[in-house]
Amino acid sequence: MSRIMVSAPGKLMLLGEHAVVYNHPCIVTAVDQRMYVNVEVLDEPVFEFYAPDVQVVSYKKPLSEIGKGDIPKGARFVEIAVKEILHFVQNDNIGLKVTTKSEFSSQFGFGSSSASTVCTIKAVSEILGLNLTNKEIFDLSYKTVLDIQGKGSGFDIAAAVYGGTIYFVTGGKIIEPLDVKKLPLVVGYSGIKADTVTLVNQVKKSFANRQDKLTEIYNNIGVLVYKAKDALINMDWQKLGKLMNKNQDLLRELGVSIKKLDNMIKLAIQAGAYGAKLSGAGGGDCMIALHSVQGKLSVQEAIKKAGGDVINVKTNAEGVRIEK
Ligand code: PMV
Repeated sequence: MSRIMVSAPGKLMLLGEHAVVYNHPCIVTAVDQRMYVNVEVLDEPVFEFYAPDVQVVSYKKPLSEIGKGDIPKGARFVEIAVKEILHFVQNDNIGLKVTTKSEFSSQFGFGSSSASTVCTIKAVSEILGLNLTNKEIFDLSYKTVLDIQGKGSGFDIAAAVYGGTIYFVTGGKIIEPLDVKKLPLVVGYSGIKADTVTLVNQVKKSFANRQDKLTEIYNNIGVLVYKAKDALINMDWQKLGKLMNKNQDLLRELGVSIKKLDNMIKLAIQAGAYGAKLSGAGGGDCMIALHSVQGKLSVQEAIKKAGGDVINVKTNAEGVRIEK
C-alpha cells in the first residue's frame, strides 16, 4: 500500500475534566466533526507535511531530522506521531508525505491535535502492514501527546480511537465504552480560545498551599462521574443534569470557569436545561447543556443571548476509520 486516508472524530468532555489528569475517571463522547489525514509513501527518506487549516503549507525535512530542531506548532503532533511509530517498528528509511484536513476549527477545543495524532499513527501503521490493536494505537498516540505537552489524561486520544461515549481513567487505565443511545446536548462556544496545559498548571499553582482541598475537590468530581455513568446509561436526564451542575460548581471552585461561560450556563439553565457546565479545561472553549425533548430551541436561544455560538454536533460518533 502506498497511500491511505484515515479519519478520526473530535471530542467533547461530558464530566470529570481536571480530576481525570490525577487518576480519576471522566466521561467523554466523540463528535461527528472529523479530522482527515492522508499519508503517501515517497521515494526518498523525507518527511513532508501539509496542513493548510493551521497555516502549514510546505514543510519538508530529511527523515533523520524528524522530531529535531524547531518544529512549527501546527506540525508538532503529526511529526512526533510519525517519529513514534517509526521508532516503534525500527524503520528509519521510509519517505512519508502527510496531509491533514479538519472539518472543525482548532479553536473550539474539539481535540484537533489528538485526532490528527491518532489518524497519523493509524495511517502509518496500515501503510506498514502492522495491524495494531486500538489499545496499541492509543498507547503510541498518548506517548506522542506526553512527549509534546508533558501532561494530559489521554481522554481525547481515547475518544478519537474508540469513538462512542467512554468512561475513561487517566492514561487509559480504564477505557469502557458506554451503551448510550441518545444524549440531548446543546453545545455553545464562548468565542474564547483556551490553552489546556496553561489551565492545568494554573490549578496546580493556585492550590499549591491547599493540597487537601484540591484532593477533596478531585475526589468529589470522581464520585459524581461514577454516578453520572449510571444516569447516562439509564437516560435519567434529571439526575445527569444535577450531576453536571454539581460538577460545574466544583470546576468553579478550581477557578477554571470564566464569566462568559458562567453566563451561558446560567441562561441555559434558566431556559429549562436539566444541567449545564463547561466542557474541557475551561478558561474559554465550550459549554454543554442537557435539554428536554421540547427544550432544545429555548436553550439554544439562551446561549446565543449570552453571546455564545451554538455549534451543531452529533455525539457518540464513530472512532478512527480508514476512508480509502
Ligand atoms: O481542553 P480540553 O478540551 O482538551 O480538555 C482538557 C481536560 C483536562 O482534564 C483539563 C486535561 C486532560 O488531559 O484530561
